[in-house]
Amino acid sequence: MSSKPAVLVARAVFPEVVERLSAHFEVDANVADTPLSRPQLIERLQGKAGAFVTGSERFDAEVLAACPQLRVVCNMAVGYNNLDIAACTAAGVLCTNTPDVLTETTADFGFALMMAAARRMAESEHFLRRGEWKTWRYDMFTGSDVHGATLGILGMGRIGQAIARRGALGFGMKVVYHNRSRLPAEQEAPLGARWVDKATLLAEADHLMLVLPYSPAAHHSIGAAELAQMKPTATLTNIARGGIVDDAALAAALREQRIAAAALDVFEGEPSVHADLLTVPNIVLTPHIASATVATRRAMAGLAADNLIAALTGGTPPTPINPEVLAAR
Ligand code: 8YV
Repeated sequence: MSSKPAVLVARAVFPEVVERLSAHFEVDANVADTPLSRPQLIERLQGKAGAFVTGSERFDAEVLAACPQLRVVCNMAVGYNNLDIAACTAAGVLCTNTPDVLTETTADFGFALMMAAARRMAESEHFLRRGEWKTWRYDMFTGSDVHGATLGILGMGRIGQAIARRGALGFGMKVVYHNRSRLPAEQEAPLGARWVDKATLLAEADHLMLVLPYSPAAHHSIGAAELAQMKPTATLTNIARGGIVDDAALAAALREQRIAAAALDVFEGEPSVHADLLTVPNIVLTPHIASATVATRRAMAGLAADNLIAALTGGTPPTPINPEVLAAR
């Protein structure tokens, strides 16, 4: 019998990562890559000491109770709202995520989405593809400027700061942000970033970017009431998590042109997308790909593997979420 611990790799990932894990573990890899239902996840986790997972697999008290041998869950994502950290800590299960390695790539994509919304790229491309482009018009797809405009950021962690840098240093934008905690003055100063309350953020932003982690308290942070406080010329971009925006309220606001445009990479109940969002023209929609460059996905997978290997071979996992579990071991 093998003395290697058994682990589950819950979704397909770079073959070299599975190979690397196989040097340390008996690996049960979901090579078919069909998302595992909750009962399937529990079944595949039986006898497993570790799990390499993505944001799609949920771990809560019920799953943990059904998998008593589980010691570590390594998320290939920086966001970890799929993990009930309190339940994992109570069960002695270490959780890890993949911060830093995706910051710049995700910020690039957020900025691209914001520009696409401001300059109506998706809407005008659809028009062209439909064969409707017959002539030049002085006001054809006129949008709003990004350079020199006011960039509003809700959530000012690593990715928020990387977006602020792009806006301030690359595009001469004024940066206002709202976050639970204010950045130290030496971090605000080079960006000219100004902490404001949420109402001021909504009222002042020409382009509002959402980069806050999902938590029940953040649910529908942007709903009808918040959209009503935004400028009619403003754009809204969400690269954070579905559920932070009330998608139905956003679709209504876009249809009635209460805000100018939006760009969404994340959706409530994804991969389903609210039907109303699919029919409003002034929106850019992408399937949760903000971190999707080859280099960054490799780095995320590599870091998740580093965490799994360290956690089960007596090493120090580089990016633990609940390190108190390790201290208690
Ligand atoms: C992932 C993400 O692609 O890191 C995150 O939090 O949202 C994305 O980079 C997704 O969560 C799949 O794991």
